[in-house]
Parts: sequence; structure tokens; C-alpha cells
Amino acid sequence: MVTDNSEADVKKINHILAGYKGESNLLIQVLLEIQKELRWLPKEGLIRISQELNVPLRQVYHAVTFYKAFSLVPKGKYTVTVCVGTACHVRGSPRILDRVEQTLGINSGDTTPDFKFSLETVNCLGCCAMGPVMVVGDVYHGKLSLDQVRRILDSYD
Ligand code: FES
Repeated sequence: MVTDNSEADVKKINHILAGYKGESNLLIQVLLEIQKELRWLPKEGLIRISQELNVPLRQVYHAVTFYKAFSLVPKGKYTVTVCVGTACHVRGSPRILDRVEQTLGINSGDTTPDFKFSLETVNCLGCCAMGPVMVVGDVYHGKLSLDQVRRILDSYD
């Protein structure tokens, strides 16, 4: 389970930062690496980034809160993204989202207690002809039916 400031998280953060000392222009790259490794950006990590890259902490927080790719809370192993854009909406995405929420037992924006799934919505994934579309991790599931939702989610370890 992911915990704030765990020893393992700090080790991973220090390992990543070791190659970037003083590289203030690489702030976003460092944030992306740590986000990818930990699936979130703990407060301790932001302080260490600020110190090691010589970037004001205020600037680090600004970047983290500006980009949707970053999270200040622990995220699940898999991000489930349900498209609720117009093309998907008219093809039934509200019912798909309801089914995903029922299946996972969480609402959009939340993470399952076991940190397996985080659920998000998006306004278009750029593949409207495939609607309704759900992405799990980096796998797109298009022309989705209600019956497929549980089977797809159950297939992830
Ligand atoms: S509206 Fe869903 S992919 Fe474009």
C-alpha cells in the first residue's frame, strides 16, 4: 500500500533526483518520473525536488497543480478513464460511467481502497468513432457495452 513519506518512496525519490542536481530547467521531467514511479507526488518529494533542483517550492506546487498528469494523492495501479464527451455521451457513456462506478464501488475522481483503480472522466479522447470509450491504463476499450465493463475490469490483476 502507498503511504505518505514511506521509506521506500523516499528512496525512490532520492534515486531519481540523484541525476538531476541543480537542473532547474528539468522540473517537469523530474515530476513526471516521480509521478510515474510512485503514481503520486508526496509532499516530502516536492520539498526534496525543490531543494535538489534549486527551484522555489511555490514553483514546484504551481507546476503540480497546473498539469492534470500530476497527483498530490496516491493513485491506483490502473487509471480508468471514461469519456463523457458529446460523441460518447450520445452513445451511452453516462450508463457506462454508472456501471464502472458500481463495479468499482467508487465515484469519478476517487481511488479504490486497495489502490488498484483510480477513476476519471474526460471530455474527449480523440477517437470519437470508437465511442463509448473507456481507457484502462493505456489500453483503449471502444464500442463498449454495459455487459463488457465488469469483464474488462476483472481482467486486470
Ligand atoms: S467524445 Fe469520446 S472520444 Fe471523443
